[in-house]
Formats: sequence, structure tokens, C-alpha cells
Amino acid sequence: MRLEGRAGIVTGSGRGIGRAVAELLAKEGASVVVNDPGVGRNGETTEERPADEVVDAIRSAGGKAIANYSSVAEYDSAGRMVRECTDAFGKIDFVVNVAGMLRERMIWNMTEEDFDQVINVHLKGHWNMCHHAIKVMRGQRYGRIVNFSSDAFKGSVGQCNYAAAKAGIIGLTRTIARECGRYGITANAMCPMAATRMTVNDAVIAGWKRRLERGLLTQAQYEARMAMPGPEFVAPMVGYLCTEESGDINGQIFHAERSLIHTYYYGEEARSIYKYDDGGMFTVDELVETVPGSLMAGIPNIAPKETEE
Ligand SMILES: NC(=O)c1ccc[n+]([C@@H]2O[C@H](COP(=O)([O-])OP(=O)(O)OC[C@H]3O[C@@H](n4cnc5c(N)ncnc54)[C@H](O)[C@@H]3O)[C@@H](O)[C@H]2O)c1
Repeated sequence: MRLEGRAGIVTGSGRGIGRAVAELLAKEGASVVVNDPGVGRNGETTEERPADEVVDAIRSAGGKAIANYSSVAEYDSAGRMVRECTDAFGKIDFVVNVAGMLRERMIWNMTEEDFDQVINVHLKGHWNMCHHAIKVMRGQRYGRIVNFSSDAFKGSVGQCNYAAAKAGIIGLTRTIARECGRYGITANAMCPMAATRMTVNDAVIAGWKRRLERGLLTQAQYEARMAMPGPEFVAPMVGYLCTEESGDINGQIFHAERSLIHTYYYGEEARSIYKYDDGGMFTVDELVETVPGSLMAGIPNIAPKETEE
């Protein structure tokens, strides 16, 4: 067991990827705060208490866990969650921020509330948990933060709130990594792919069927989506990032799914043009002339204008 004697929090671990992570960490010997308010896919309140079920499953398998039902979006509740961990287990070695929900609409239809809710749960929720936990971790001179971004950070139609939050989580993670590395705290981000209620549900499947019928998806692409692997394939990389052995991995981004883990070459300078005369000032005319053949050479428009019939 790689995490014997360790303790920490997994947010949003009543279901999906969070649950798979909490169960794996507990199996590796860690004591886990299983956080989940049991909200619906769009963040709506429900009577469900999935955290209890996960705690029962962990305890039945011989592990140690306690439940917490707070929202990560609330600053004070996040602080109390960290205290619950230190009160129950004497320390906080890791925080895995998995909690999430969706409010999907095109930007012109999205309400201000849709935007704020998603930013609050994902970006602010990550900050809340990291902020409170790192105050304790700094004193311990040890900590592991694993944040959940998404491949959506690259841009994702119908999800501008979510994509913005997930890109923000990468900036947050890389900054925490730089600020806290010297205290023995690492922060890394995951971009998972797994079948959960977030990614595979009746509405999503109906959408794939429509796209298949319209020829926007091939049969092979449709079948691959329908056979999307489960969240258990994401958990081992998160487990590794919570071990002492991963101490030199800091500020990195990993995509994980069944059979595949890859890094992202993120934020590196790709192509450049230089100007040293005229005080280093490019003119618009020069850019019109040079950019297509230099910075943008061979790079197509990601969403070209449709021609009207
Ligand atoms: N499943 C994927 O393929 C995929 C892809 C990219 C990113 N992600 C990210 O991975 C994470 C987990 O997603 P999932 O697919 O397991 O979704 P899921 O819906 O199965 O689980 C998310 C859990 O988070 C909880 N939650 C929601 N709001 C919360 C809040 N305010 N405080 C605490 N908990 C809250 C929900 O109750 C739910 O149990 C999310 O951050 C998601 O954005 C998932």
C-alpha cells in the first residue's frame, strides 16, 4: 500500500471519477474525507446522499473514510471541510478536487447565472479548497494537490463557462505549483475521459444518434463514444500523484483514460516573428503581410464561416 498513514479530501467523490479516486486512495491505505452534496448534473439540489454510500463501501472494504456534504463553492464550508480532515485524521496530506457540474448553452443563450454557477463550483471551488488546505500543508511542509481540468480547456462548443473554468484551473494549478513547491507541496492537473453521468446520459446519447444520422459522426466514432471506458481507469494516475514518490512532478497536466495517459506541452512558445528596427514596433500593414506565411502558416481556421446557399 502506497498511502498508508496519509489522509486527505476528495471533493465530488460521491459519484463518477471522484468515487473511483476515493476508493483507490482508501485501498492504498489513506484515510479519506468523501465530500459530496449529492447535487444533480446541473448542480441542482437533490435529496441524494451519495457520499454515505461511498463511505460505507470504503469501510466495508476495511478502509477509513468520513462523509462531508458541503459545496466546494462556499468559502467557509471549504475551510470547515479541511478542519474536519485534520480533526478526524490529524493532518491533510492531499486534496483531490473532482467536484463538478455543467450548465451547457451556446454563449448567446447562456444566462449570467449559468456562467457564475459553473465558475463558482469549478474555478472558485478549486481555489477555496486549495487555499484552506495549503495553509495547513505549508506548516506540514508536505502536500499533494490534484486538480480536475478537462480537455475542454482547448475550447468546447456549448460549454464556454466550463471551458473557461477548466482553463482557469490550469493557471491556478501551475501557479500553486510555483508558489508551493519549495514547501514540499505539489500541484498537478488532470484532464480525464470517462463514462459518468456527466459524459454519458440519455440526452448525450440522443445527441450522438442525431449526429450519426446526419453524417456528422461515423459509425466507428459513434461506437467508440458508446463504449467510453469507466472512471476507474483515471484513478491510478491520481493515486500516483498523491504518493510521496511523485514529489518531483509539479505543475504538470495529464490526460488519462483507459489504456492512455499523456502530458500536455502547455504554454510553451511555438512560433515567433521578430522586429528589431523602428524601435521594435510592428505595423498592422506588416502583420497583414507576414503573419499568414509565418505565425499562421499551415494553421487552418478552427471554425470557418459557413457559405450561405
Ligand atoms: N467524465 C469525464 O469524461 C470528464 C472529462 C473532463 C473533465 N471531467 C471533470 O472530472 C470531474 C468529475 O466528473 P464526473 O464525470 O465524475 O462527474 P459526476 O457528475 O459523475 O460527478 C461529479 C460529482 O461532483 C459533485 N458536485 C457537484 N457540485 C459540487 C459542489 N459544489 N461541491 C461538491 N461536490 C459537487 C456531484 O454531486 C457529483 O457527485 C469534474 O470536475 C469534471 O468536470 C470529467
